[in-house]
Amino acid sequence: MGLPDATNPYRPGAGIAPPVLAGRDAILERFEELTATVRATAEGQRPWVVTGARGVGKTVLLLELLQRAHDAGWTCARIEAGPPDSLAESLTRALYIPLRQAVGRSRAPRGGDERLRRVLGIFSALRLSLDTGGRLSFGVDVEPPDLSGDLGTDLQELLQALGEWARAEDTPVLLTIDELDSATPEDLRALNRSLHLLGQEDLPVPVQVVGAGQSNLPATLARSARYAERLWEFHEIGALDDVAAAVALTAPAAHLGVAWEDGAVARAVEASWGVPFFLQSIGRFAWQLRRGGTIRRADAETAVELAFADARGLYLARWELLTGAQRSFVSALARLGDEAAVAEVAAELGRRPAGLGRVRADLVARGVVETAGRGRVRFPLPGFAAWVVERDA
Ligand SMILES: Nc1ncnc2c1ncn2[C@@H]1O[C@H](COP(=O)(O)OP(=O)(O)OP(=O)(O)O)[C@@H](O)[C@H]1O
Ligand SMILES: [Mg+2]
Repeated sequence: MGLPDATNPYRPGAGIAPPVLAGRDAILERFEELTATVRATAEGQRPWVVTGARGVGKTVLLLELLQRAHDAGWTCARIEAGPPDSLAESLTRALYIPLRQAVGRSRAPRGGDERLRRVLGIFSALRLSLDTGGRLSFGVDVEPPDLSGDLGTDLQELLQALGEWARAEDTPVLLTIDELDSATPEDLRALNRSLHLLGQEDLPVPVQVVGAGQSNLPATLARSARYAERLWEFHEIGALDDVAAAVALTAPAAHLGVAWEDGAVARAVEASWGVPFFLQSIGRFAWQLRRGGTIRRADAETAVELAFADARGLYLARWELLTGAQRSFVSALARLGDEAAVAEVAAELGRRPAGLGRVRADLVARGVVETAGRGRVRFPLPGFAAWVVERDA
C-alpha cells in the first residue's frame, strides 16, 4: 500500500470537507434562493433543519452554506449544540469574534454605534449570567442591561439586537447549529421560544438560522414545543444516488489525472450504498492501491474490503450503545441480511411483531436501523450486518 500519499484527495472523517461535494445541488439551490430572499427583504426566513443519518454529510453541508454566506459578505457564526456547553455559552463564544471585528471596523467613537453597543451589552449580560469565569472583553465600556432570566427571552433579545445592527449594516447574519439533537431539552425549548418570538417582532431582522441533526430531530423538536413543526423548515438529506456517488469518487481523481475504470466505480458505488463517509473511505484506499493513472476493478474490490475493515471501530461504537433487547433485534436482523420485514425479525426471535414496536422505534431513533417501506427495516450503514454476524459467531 506504500507510504502515506499527500496527493490522496479523499477525505473520510467527520466534518472534513470532501474534495467535491456531490449530489447536493438541489439543497444548495434552495439555499441560494433563501439567501437572496433574506437579502432582498432584510428578513430572516423560517429556520432550516437539515436532518440525516450519521456520516451522510450534514456537517460538511453546513460548512458549505457558511462558506457561501461568508463569500456573500454575511456575518457568520457556527456552533455545535450539546454537552458540555450550554447553547448560550456556545452562541456567545461563536459571536465573540464577529462582534469584535465589528467593533474594530466601526468608525463611530467608543466602540461603535448605538445598535452595536446594544448587542455588546446584551452579549455581556448573557455572559455574566453564565458564570463561565472567563470574561470576553470588547475593549469598550458597555452597560449590560438587566436580562429577564428566561433563556428563550434573553436569546431572542440578543438575536433581535444582533439583527437590528445587521440590518443597519446591510449584512445579514447566518447562524448554524450542528448536532442540534444533542442539545438539552431546556436549550431546545429556549431556542424554539427565541426563534418563535423573533419571528413575531414588528421589526423583522435579517438573521437566518440553519440547524442540523440526526433523523429523529424533527420529533425531538416537536416534543419540545407545540409549534415547532411549523416554526422549522425540514430538509432531509440522504445517501447519494448512483450518479452523485460516482461523481464523488471520480471527480477528485480526474482533477489529478487519475481515472476510475467503469467496473471499479460500479463496485465502489454499490458497496458504499451511496453513504458519503464510505465513498471517501473506499476512494482513499483505492487511490493507495492504484498503479499509475488508473483505478481498476480489482483495486476497488480490495478498497471496499479495507474500508469495511476500517469501519469496525465505528460498528463497535454503535453496538456498544445498544441495550440487550436492541442487540437481540439487531443480531436477528443481521442474520437475515441488510434488510428484512419486521415480521421476519420477530419470527427469528420467536416473538410477535407487535411486541417489538418499542425496540424498533428506539433503534430507528438512534439511527441504527431505518424503515424501508411498510413493515420493513434495514441497516443504513453498509457492512454493519456482516460485522454483527461475525461478532455473534
Ligand atoms: N456530498 C458529499 N460528497 C462527497 N463526500 C461527502 C459529501 N458529504 C459528506 N462527505 C464526506 O462524508 C464524510 C462525513 O461527512 P459529515 O461529517 O459532514 O457527516 P455528518 O452527517 O455530519 O455525520 P455525523 O452525523 O456523524 O455528524 C466526510 O468524510 C465528508 O468529507
Ligand atoms: Mg456531523
